[in-house]
Amino acid sequence: MTALAHSATEGRNTARSLFWILGAIAFSGLVACTAVGPVTPVPTPRVPTDNLRLVAVLTPAPSVPGDPNAGRQIFVTQACPSCHTLRGVQASGVIGPNLTNITLRPTLGGGAIQNTPENLARWIKNAPSVKPGIAMPAFESLTDQQVRDLAAFLYSVPYNVQ
Ligand code: HEC
Repeated sequence: MTALAHSATEGRNTARSLFWILGAIAFSGLVACTAVGPVTPVPTPRVPTDNLRLVAVLTPAPSVPGDPNAGRQIFVTQACPSCHTLRGVQASGVIGPNLTNITLRPTLGGGAIQNTPENLARWIKNAPSVKPGIAMPAFESLTDQQVRDLAAFLYSVPYNVQ
């Protein structure tokens, strides 16, 4: 065999092995892909903080009658959030005052009555009877227990991390 013919054979052999190597890489890539399956991007779960807060068990304020957890449910299912903002639940109304930490104020309705758990329940049940002419409707359909629960909920707000 001449030197030329020899190197030509060698070239062919190299090309052939290169073909097999590349083929093997491509094949193992294919196997790996089918083994793993199609890669579906998994979105980072968004923590629905407001909803988490809605299921978190609330610490009641000391010596306030009523159930703050029941009160929270009543608050979000009644019309309260359409007029009031309250941090920690989905309530962003602006017709009435912001009720976050309302219980830390000395009076209700801008001095209309002293702020106590009983007066807060009374206010919620029938605010226009306490301060006539205001834009907050009476909630006569709520039971005494329900308005007490609402008051207990508002009183619990400063005792719960938001
Ligand atoms: C249609 C609008 C509206 C709805 C619905 C409403 N409110 Fe009000 N609320 C007001 C307005 C307006 C005031 C301010 C009254 C004033 O002092 O002039 C107010 C005042 C209050 C206050 C006293 C705030 C303060 O700063 O003294 C509390 C407590 C309150 N609302 C609780 C509630 C709760 C609980 C609900 C649901 C059961 C509710 N409100 C539903 C409009 C509303």
